[in-house]
Amino acid sequence: MEVIFLKFYITTPIYYVNSDPHVGSAYTTIIADIIARYKRMMGYDVFFLTGTDEHGQKILQAATNAGKDPQSFCDELAGRFKKLWKKLGITNDGFIRTTDQDHMKVVQYFVKKMMENGDLYKGEYKGWYCVPCESYWNEEEIGAERLCPSCGRELKYITEENYFFRLSKYTDALLEHYRNHPEFVQPDFRRNEMLKILEGGLKDLSITRTTFKWGVPMPDDPEHVIYVWVDALINYISAIGYPFDTEKFNRYWPADLHLIGKEINRFHSIVWPAMLISVGLPLPKTVFAHGWLTVDGQKISKSLGNAIDPSYFVEKYGNDVLRFYLLRDINFGKDGDFSEKNLVNRLNSDLANDYGNLLHRTLAMLEKHYSSVLPEPKEHDEIDERFKEDVMQRVKEYEKLMEEYSLTQAVEKILEILMLSNKYFDEKRPWILAKQKDFSRLSTVLYNTCEALMKVAVMFSPIMPDSSREVLLRVGFDWGPSKELLDRWGILKPSVRIVHGKPLFEKKEFATEKKESEPRMDDLIELDEFKKVKLRTAKVLSAERVPKSDKLLKLIVDVGDLGQRQIVAGIAKYYEPESLVGKTIIVVVNLKPAKLMGVESQGMLLAAKDSTNLRVLTVDGDIAPGATIS
Ligand code: MSP
Repeated sequence: MEVIFLKFYITTPIYYVNSDPHVGSAYTTIIADIIARYKRMMGYDVFFLTGTDEHGQKILQAATNAGKDPQSFCDELAGRFKKLWKKLGITNDGFIRTTDQDHMKVVQYFVKKMMENGDLYKGEYKGWYCVPCESYWNEEEIGAERLCPSCGRELKYITEENYFFRLSKYTDALLEHYRNHPEFVQPDFRRNEMLKILEGGLKDLSITRTTFKWGVPMPDDPEHVIYVWVDALINYISAIGYPFDTEKFNRYWPADLHLIGKEINRFHSIVWPAMLISVGLPLPKTVFAHGWLTVDGQKISKSLGNAIDPSYFVEKYGNDVLRFYLLRDINFGKDGDFSEKNLVNRLNSDLANDYGNLLHRTLAMLEKHYSSVLPEPKEHDEIDERFKEDVMQRVKEYEKLMEEYSLTQAVEKILEILMLSNKYFDEKRPWILAKQKDFSRLSTVLYNTCEALMKVAVMFSPIMPDSSREVLLRVGFDWGPSKELLDRWGILKPSVRIVHGKPLFEKKEFATEKKESEPRMDDLIELDEFKKVKLRTAKVLSAERVPKSDKLLKLIVDVGDLGQRQIVAGIAKYYEPESLVGKTIIVVVNLKPAKLMGVESQGMLLAAKDSTNLRVLTVDGDIAPGATIS
């Protein structure tokens, strides 16, 4: 018999250690963990790698700012990443740090090979550099404001003698690879972005720096340190033994999936494969670039104070709930918004109601009417048969969707099974069957619902490992979830002891502010009354905090023919002052001036507010300051 060897090598980006991990870095790591757990369940030999990116100017700066030497700074931060991953139940098989001596040796070996293959040359780099992104940009890419096209921050002009990688040489080889392997970059719209860059032709890439030392020294020319991105990308092979442990390396390489965020796609889908072709290694099967999370509508950033520590959610709601929420509510692949309010809604409706409650009702009846022993299913009618088929169809669809990384859609299939099961249970009315002492039909309903719930627990197990294990234990499995439990209907063994137990998920309340009252018919106003309010567009010229107030910002705005106005607004909790400058907002210009914290306000700006967030109203497109609004 032929033994088929199934392996799956999955990686996350290695995270910069300039600051603590946040919901964004946790997002990628949790998704990678979900895929890794799923593949293990499906029988693959999985290697799941994550780690930390510790060299380069940005980390050096962060260490200096913290008054620490870079190595001990990195040690401390890498430790915090590891600790968080443990808390989130991450099952990584490797954790690579780019300051590991073994990794650094491999980087030098790799770069030497590129050199031997004639792919490196010395030249002068003159151009722009973004330290936060550790990226080079050329004049055509950056526009007149000279801001980083990726993160929008200020760029530095650098002139240095560097080594260059002949990236341009690989344009055609990459185009060909993209053509022959449409699965190489996913989702499709991300592949198209990369194709556009390739079709425009590639420029050679500077791959060393000379103005600081925090990096891997260039072999035979230690005045140069290797560019942090070249150093970092090599982690994907150094961590699995390249080039010294050939057995391990050959077992896992090429990677099956590099999971990354969309902003670093260019490095993974263009630079990295070119480097691999240069040294003669096979290319990874797929780079999947997922979307970006905002928190309550805002970009995650340390300076905005919304770089939330995921531990907060684990402690408040449980790890399973956080993991489920991220997969369910953020359509995997697209950008999405993380909000605690939505998390609570999902917990209460999908998990506590649809899942936990059905489990509770089923197990309670088994406890009461069958002394906690699972009965043999007896009479089957058409509804029972249809129910089984519907569930099994969803199981198959789930497997297919998981295989193609349509993860959010896969979760929807699990929720569909729960919906079908609740419907089945309510339609069959087992409480009436119990009253009528119709035990042959009651046994069938309870058995079938239990079987469906067991399948749900198995399908959920990569996403919510703790609650799945609990459900499986309650229906008599003290070993883990596996593919066999999904393959066919009727896996549960009659006569097994079931455990009723506590509610699986506890409902939570999310404190919301009280709602503005709905307009009533007798509250309506005349048009003339509305017209009394004079609204104009205004361009924000400057913004600063009002001293001693954590709520107020003072804005100077240009209102066209009405000149400049000073507006004081209670928006400091929602906006960094600089982020408002240049925006065209809407102000009421005929309000009597008022003093707030001793500062005069000559008008009022308009803003929308919900229970968690506030957004200033702006106009759709360009319009002159002072334009009237009606
Ligand atoms: N060190 C590089 C990666 C080198 S890989 C060879 C790096 N590090 S990073 O710390 O900035 O991490 C970036 C990654 O973290 C993103 O690609 C994404 O996977 C994850 N995320 C960080 N913020 C995120 C969001 N706001 N939303 C979703 N994912 C985000 O780039």
